[in-house]
Amino acid sequence: MSPQQSQFQLQPMTYEDIQEVMVIETNVQSQPWSSGIFKDCIRVGYSCWVCKENNDQLVGYLIQSIAAEEMHILNVCIHPHWQRRNLGTLLVQHAETIALKEKVRSSFLEVRQSNLPAIRLYQKEGYKKIGIRKDYYPITNGREDAIVMSKNHSR
Ligand SMILES: CC(C)(COP(=O)(O)OP(=O)(O)OC[C@H]1O[C@@H](n2cnc3c(N)ncnc32)[C@H](O)[C@@H]1OP(=O)(O)O)[C@@H](O)C(=O)NCCC(=O)NCCS
Repeated sequence: MSPQQSQFQLQPMTYEDIQEVMVIETNVQSQPWSSGIFKDCIRVGYSCWVCKENNDQLVGYLIQSIAAEEMHILNVCIHPHWQRRNLGTLLVQHAETIALKEKVRSSFLEVRQSNLPAIRLYQKEGYKKIGIRKDYYPITNGREDAIVMSKNHSR
């Protein structure tokens, strides 16, 4: 973490964090997860992280699942006020660090094809497009394709 980012801390998400997570989730995501989904992610043991400013305000979060030498990024989101300050990158890099400790060989994610900020972030972190899931996401007037991206962690 650079000195500029030292005001930010990454911590495991707790049930107490979910209320703040939901404020961001419902304001930022076009199809927000419910609080129950976040609770389930913690309950089943997914790797769930929050980013806090000065151990106080929750500014972002990431959910990853790890199994069978694969990591999946299921959700990553940064509060609009804190976007474009490398915090999304910080969370994605942290997810990779955790994955490598767990001997993961490949990481995967899906992203809306219209979500250029996220696609650029993932590309910068070495993710490459490997496919399309047709009509994967609901949108107001129909469905939108998902781009499937992957990164190999050769050892
Ligand atoms: C996608 C998201 C997590 C990025 O978080 P962030 O903290 O703003 O991203 P970073 O500051 O780490 O940006 C890293 C790179 O991503 C790209 N990027 C991020 N936001 C961008 C934007 N609005 N427009 C274009 N590129 C963007 C840039 O390449 C950027 O590098 P640069 O600043 O050196 O140009 C954030 O925009 C967000 O929460 N979006 C809503 C939720 C979402 O779409 N999540 C992903 C679902 S798959």
